[in-house]
Amino acid sequence: MSEKRVIIAIDGPAGSGKSTLAKRVAERLGFIYINTGAMYRAVALWALQLGVGLTDMHRLEQLAKEAGIELTRDGRVLLNGEDVTDAIREPHVSDAASQVSAVPGVRRALLGVQRGLAEQNSVVMEGRDIGSVVFPDAQVKIFLDADPAERARRRALELQDDAIAVEGDLRQRDERDRGRAEAPLVQAPDAELVDTTGLSPEEVEEVILRIVRARTSNGKGAKRHDEQGAVRAD
Ligand code: DC
Repeated sequence: MSEKRVIIAIDGPAGSGKSTLAKRVAERLGFIYINTGAMYRAVALWALQLGVGLTDMHRLEQLAKEAGIELTRDGRVLLNGEDVTDAIREPHVSDAASQVSAVPGVRRALLGVQRGLAEQNSVVMEGRDIGSVVFPDAQVKIFLDADPAERARRRALELQDDAIAVEGDLRQRDERDRGRAEAPLVQAPDAELVDTTGLSPEEVEEVILRIVRARTSNGKGAKRHDEQGAVRAD
């Protein structure tokens, strides 16, 4: 049987359950999990550390090109060799990442990296524009969404913060991500919409695996990851 690379694109707004589900589905299928939001976050963190203005498009593009971003198999994120897994989750970095991700040059730089990561492997890649821009020909496209109050509640639980405060931040970020000119958050026409409101991760996982089976004839012949250590993005 010939080996075939399978790409599962999972897009959706913050708090829709993308990371949890993309990780679970990748584990179940033996595919590599790639969180593209972590890449935008890493570039944003670097810009903040260096004091680069979030409107300085030229410098931001340069940073995106030069950043050594590594996503390890155990879910850590390294920026130029330093573990930034926790630092990139800080609320001020979330906000900066949303701003940085609207810069066309930054998107261009990371797009090449993201496509490269899936060249040799079957992947579950999550983000905002995976099914619409990064892999318009992905075999499986899922758009996850959930009621805004539930998304805020989930994010607040993660951050151990107040849901009302988090909802305001989330709404602002959503509006920016949906409204930007370059690769806005949008459901691709051929993506399956999965509303995760009120569903457990187990239930959503089953729905996604059913879609994957339907679109890949059971995933047979899919190329699994090749057991090489980290996925490098530099
Ligand atoms: O998924 P996340 O919340 O970690 O993403 C952080 C920011 O990066 C988010 O505001 C939107 C942006 N992003 C993007 O524009 N495109 C992607 N493919 C992934 C994330």
